[in-house]
Amino acid sequence: MVCLGNICRSPMAHGIMRDKIKKLELNVHVDSAGTSSYHIGSPPDLRQQETARCHNIDISDLRARQFTKDDFAEFDLIYAMDSANLANIMALSKDENESKKVFMILNESQPNKNLDVPDPYYGNDDGFELVYNLLEQACTVIAKKIADGTYR
Ligand code: 4NP
Repeated sequence: MVCLGNICRSPMAHGIMRDKIKKLELNVHVDSAGTSSYHIGSPPDLRQQETARCHNIDISDLRARQFTKDDFAEFDLIYAMDSANLANIMALSKDENESKKVFMILNESQPNKNLDVPDPYYGNDDGFELVYNLLEQACTVIAKKIADGTYR
């Protein structure tokens, strides 16, 4: 799960997916990262933590890190939160084997639209709830595909 700062959207996606993996007893490793170095080592934004907590998801243990080229070898699926993140991730890929692992996350719940998860950082609290709702829908689809064995 990859966004810009790894303090709002991608830790929310990480927390939602981690919760579903546990509940469905899936054998999946999930992680998150940011394309920027701005917030390395920081916990999730307190506004996103609070929104998560309202939905019984605890993301307080997560710490921001930067996406690296090594992540292409480590992960089978790489989800970008928006088109700028997608471009930044793609720019680090060395071949098609790596670039074909990268997807816009909202295409899981709203296929072929290439919609962004809106960056909530400079907005009001509604933005964090919208992030939760959009990612809950996308992660529900991802978890179901994995559980059903129908993932690509
Ligand atoms: P995120 O949100 O990419 O969802 O973690 C942001 C966090 C920080 C900044 C921008 C977006 N920033 O410019 O510091």
